[in-house]
Amino acid sequence: MMATRQTKTAGPAPEKGVFIRTYGCQMNVYDSERMADLLKPIGYRSVDAPEDADLVILNTCHIREKAAEKVYSELGRLKRMKSQRENDGEGMTIAVAGCVAQAEGAEISARAPVVDLVVGPQAYHRLPELLARQARERGEILDTDFAVEEKFDRLARRSADGPTAFVTIQEGCDKFCTFCVVPYTRGAEVSRPVSAIAGEARALAAQGVREITLLGQNVNAWAGDAPAGDPQGGRWGLGELCRFLAKIDGIDRIRFTTSHPRDMDDGLIAALGEEEKLMPYLHLPVQAGSDKILKAMNRGHTAEHYVKLIDRIRAARPDIAISGDFIVGFPGETTEDFNETLAVVEAVGYASAFSFKYSRRPGTPGAVMPKQVAENEKEARLAELQALLERQRSDFNAAQIGKVLPVLFEKAGRHEGQLIGRSPYLQSVHATAPKSMLGKIAPAKIRDVTPNALAGALISKDEDAA
Ligand code: 5AD
Ligand code: SF4
Repeated sequence: MMATRQTKTAGPAPEKGVFIRTYGCQMNVYDSERMADLLKPIGYRSVDAPEDADLVILNTCHIREKAAEKVYSELGRLKRMKSQRENDGEGMTIAVAGCVAQAEGAEISARAPVVDLVVGPQAYHRLPELLARQARERGEILDTDFAVEEKFDRLARRSADGPTAFVTIQEGCDKFCTFCVVPYTRGAEVSRPVSAIAGEARALAAQGVREITLLGQNVNAWAGDAPAGDPQGGRWGLGELCRFLAKIDGIDRIRFTTSHPRDMDDGLIAALGEEEKLMPYLHLPVQAGSDKILKAMNRGHTAEHYVKLIDRIRAARPDIAISGDFIVGFPGETTEDFNETLAVVEAVGYASAFSFKYSRRPGTPGAVMPKQVAENEKEARLAELQALLERQRSDFNAAQIGKVLPVLFEKAGRHEGQLIGRSPYLQSVHATAPKSMLGKIAPAKIRDVTPNALAGALISKDEDAA
């Protein structure tokens, strides 16, 4: 029997289906949303499965080998789907976007000829044009050029989806940590101007967005000229930008990610201390705790510098929760070095964290360093680190019991009458609440914790919180 798809509608320009699968970081989530926005005017609507799509886009991640390999196995599945389609006399376009596209453009075409189109992270805005060309030529098109400013302009957000939204303010990275592909796949640091960011934030607020997360690979390296008419003028850093965005009516919460310890300047720390709309949650990766390894990683700071920095941030904002990223088994890491990572974790106390086994990325300095660590050793270290981080995470969650936290309600819960929202610390909170609370912030008393969420009960503003 022939497979049937119901993506076509009657009319002069038949509607097509696009399915976008996103791998990796929030930047990719943001890029995928923008790609869907860009494709709407040329007749593509989003569908929930590749089976229903005329165009499948894999928005890929190259940060670790596992992430990149997933793309090739997905391409294997899509290849079978595409040949079935072709047997049925129908077409299917397969595009690879994102960092794998940037890093392995030509290799993808060689390894997976099923791919029709390869588009790097700086060239999404040209997707409509590339698709049109592809339709004309039925050939293969590569586009991985860097043209960032233009991309920011063309990718300006069109529609909000719920009360929270990402806003890209910075792209790329100049730090060149020796394990990391980002400086190669995302290119040099580029900051988006204040006026464009504020314009997007205002448009989002007008559509009911209450919380924005400012995105950048190296977000606290953001810099820009003060807007015309600002009494002080001069150059702004992320702290000034956050204070400016906090003045927008309707925007009640501001977050930013991901920060680098070297760029946590005094202006940003002061803003964290003084601006209530900045959420008390900071993702500040340290990666490792041994100075020898930090040096080999080219992080540009020591473990002591990082721990003291956290102390300064906590002095400015005592309720701040810290999150981090860690890599175990970087070349040359001994058991003693690894124990120093555990010591930093003990000293800081993390509310949440991501931890990874070191993955050799071709083209990065780490890949060719001597003393690569054996896989089983990396696994043992990762298990030990994750056990400690998980203990800290559950202690942090348990410590919320009895507290009253403002919750921004985002969606319906699994049970009738229940809504799910987020605490200032990014924890999921579920509570019995009317649908009218969606998109609003209300205080909830935390009654219980489950492994992945907090259970809260709405309280009225004047109810005794004790
Ligand atoms: N191997 C393992 N983890 C890595 N990360 C980046 N590159 C690598 C790599 N080669 C991790 C870092 C970074 C996070 C986004 O991914 O911890 O902060
Ligand atoms: Fe990669 Fe380091 Fe830049 Fe982060 S700061 S994106 S880990 S090079």
